[in-house]
Amino acid sequence: MSYETILVEQKGAVTLITLNRPQALNALNSTVLAELIDAFAAYQADKAQRCAVITGSGDKAFAAGADIKEMADKPGAEFYSEDFFAGWTSQLVKSTRKPWIAAVNGFALGGGCELSMMADFIIASENAKFGQPEIKLAVAPGMGGSQRLTRAVGKAKAMDMCLTGRLMGAEEAERAGLVSRVVPADKLMEEALKAAETIAAMPPLAAMMNKEMVNIAFETTLDTGLLMERRMFQVLTATEDKAEGMKAFIEKRPGNWQGK
Ligand code: CAA
Repeated sequence: MSYETILVEQKGAVTLITLNRPQALNALNSTVLAELIDAFAAYQADKAQRCAVITGSGDKAFAAGADIKEMADKPGAEFYSEDFFAGWTSQLVKSTRKPWIAAVNGFALGGGCELSMMADFIIASENAKFGQPEIKLAVAPGMGGSQRLTRAVGKAKAMDMCLTGRLMGAEEAERAGLVSRVVPADKLMEEALKAAETIAAMPPLAAMMNKEMVNIAFETTLDTGLLMERRMFQVLTATEDKAEGMKAFIEKRPGNWQGK
């Protein structure tokens, strides 16, 4: 399927999705959202695809935010009646049970920072810059920035970034726990695809459940989370892949996963 604002490629078991509006620094408009929803649904449905990577085209930006030109003249009532931005979480995050990584090159601002935080983790290039500068437009984050950023880096830095609009470089983002790795700009895609291939080679049900378990930590109490973790562990022990995984360990050979 070909799209207007994104590129989708399959590299073995890894789906690579590239935001492709470099002339607008990959700003996120309604077409981008509609196309991402379609591409992520196809990724989720395709059993042969085991991990996805999202990145931005060009060397300047992952995404410089929601499209300001699309929002500038839109009547306020429409933002509310359409529940503007709701689809990002409801259709991208919640419907994608398989793992995906954000490979952040350059600016990840506003909705761009928020999209990167929707991924399971972020690998950043040395030139990555994260920010929630919406306050300068007299608005505020609308795709999860005030919530996901605060959970990722804590109140002090989240308040600092949302209130001053300052940008956070890659090293600070790694120190603060926003990104999992920082790599040289020319190694970003190699590293991100390598990480994705590693995940893609894991037993798929265990990959989905590990993702689900970590996400539950943000939604519930410790006691409930620990209970859910034990139950999910116990469910995994009933899979054919568990029998194969433990047998393969004992026989000192790689596992052969069936996703059952
Ligand atoms: N929306 C629409 N177009 C954008 C854009 C955005 N968020 N960000 C950049 N562009 C466009 C520019 O208008 C420009 O287009 P033209 O050539 O047609 O003028 C082109 O991309 C290149 O941008 P600049 O000339 O501004 O590039 P620069 O290198 O001088 O500056 C920048 C780069 C600092 C990232 C600057 O573009 C910028 O500040 N962008 C806006 C960042 C921002 O405010 N993001 C938050 C948006 S609101 C939001 O995201 C709400 C939410 O929570 C979801």
